[in-house]
Amino acid sequence: MNNIVILDTDTTLKEHLKDCPQKVNVSQFSTTTRLFSHIKSFPCDLLFIEPSLNGINAKELIKQLQDKYQLTIVLTTALTEINHSVQLLKMGIENYLLKPLIKSKTHELIEKLELTKERKKISTFDEETMIASSPKMVKVLNLLLKVAKSQSHVLIQGESGTGKEVAARILHQHSLRNNQSFIKVNCAAIPDTLVESEFFGHEKGSFTGALATRIGRFELANKGSILLDEITEVPLSMQAKLLRAIQEMEFERVGGQKTLTTDVRIISTSNQNLKLALDEKRFRSDLYYRLNVIPIHIPPLRERKEDIIPLAIHFLKQLSIHHQESVKTLTPSAQKKLVDHHWPGNIRELSNVIERSCILCEKNSIAASSIFLDNL
Ligand SMILES: Nc1ncnc2c1ncn2[C@@H]1O[C@H](COP(=O)(O)OP(=O)(O)OP(=O)(O)O)[C@@H](O)[C@H]1O
Ligand SMILES: [Mg+2]
Repeated sequence: MNNIVILDTDTTLKEHLKDCPQKVNVSQFSTTTRLFSHIKSFPCDLLFIEPSLNGINAKELIKQLQDKYQLTIVLTTALTEINHSVQLLKMGIENYLLKPLIKSKTHELIEKLELTKERKKISTFDEETMIASSPKMVKVLNLLLKVAKSQSHVLIQGESGTGKEVAARILHQHSLRNNQSFIKVNCAAIPDTLVESEFFGHEKGSFTGALATRIGRFELANKGSILLDEITEVPLSMQAKLLRAIQEMEFERVGGQKTLTTDVRIISTSNQNLKLALDEKRFRSDLYYRLNVIPIHIPPLRERKEDIIPLAIHFLKQLSIHHQESVKTLTPSAQKKLVDHHWPGNIRELSNVIERSCILCEKNSIAASSIFLDNL
């Protein structure tokens, strides 16, 4: 919800949005003519409309907007006008803010809409493709499909760039939860002080900067799957709380009194040697055994050379769609160069090499001399 437009003469909402925890750009207009000329040229995700504004026919306006644009509409309405607004709400608009406007209510609504948008995005991601031509990867794929239907937690291990996230998405897509959310938490990217809030959410005012209530990822993933990416990066101090959430499926938001329950399938990944992390006491063994009900190891690309060319062709096809050109091919010597390489960065490195070659080689057939490897 980055680009917000307000159709109203009252500027209170614009003032409230200035301190919104999410970064938003706000434009305000008082006539429909100016509103339309703006949204024709600039992106708009969210539109607040005062339906009683002088000179507008709110019903007609909403219909026109719904026909032409993909945006979320929220009514800002006074209690005395609510009857009129209820009619408009029947037109498929779900949200309204009551006037006089309250800043915290506005912020809560933005947070709610963000989450709804994220949920939609997550639940409609494209069908994941997993290329598996080598005997080792065929085994992995079969195992993934076999365990997908169970409710057990899965721990996926493998070097960086081997396809752990792809495997996690395949698991979710083939699970009984596939019509529910798939929520990813990148444990390596969250500052230690915010991990708890990211997992379990927080109540408004529970710490400096907690301007509005936030729903955590465990709550958001309810009934679906949660991917705890790079699980070994979770600080030791948080691991006990995470263990409880996984064991009991209950937790409290930071600063909250109420115990919340959730029902999630946990898929965790790690590119580290977990046994070493256990020996070095960086990772709790009770948490490890909870997460590792079904262990899956994704082999490095150098151990499954039969996958290299099918993967390269897969990336060439993706690039041709992206650039709207015909699919480039690889000469036999280019193929040999790819197969002989050691691929320390695994599939991510292969994808980069193919993209680079595609950009630098103007011919339709890519020769070995146009393949530039990262020789670290
Ligand atoms: N079997 C596969 N078939 C098609 N594409 C794949 C496959 N495995 C990986 N990829 C692609 O390779 C890239 C890296 O995969 P992914 O992000 O799943 O790896 P990862 O193991 O999670 O890496 P990291 O440890 O760096 O997080 C992605 O672009 C992904 O789409
Ligand atoms: Mg990953």
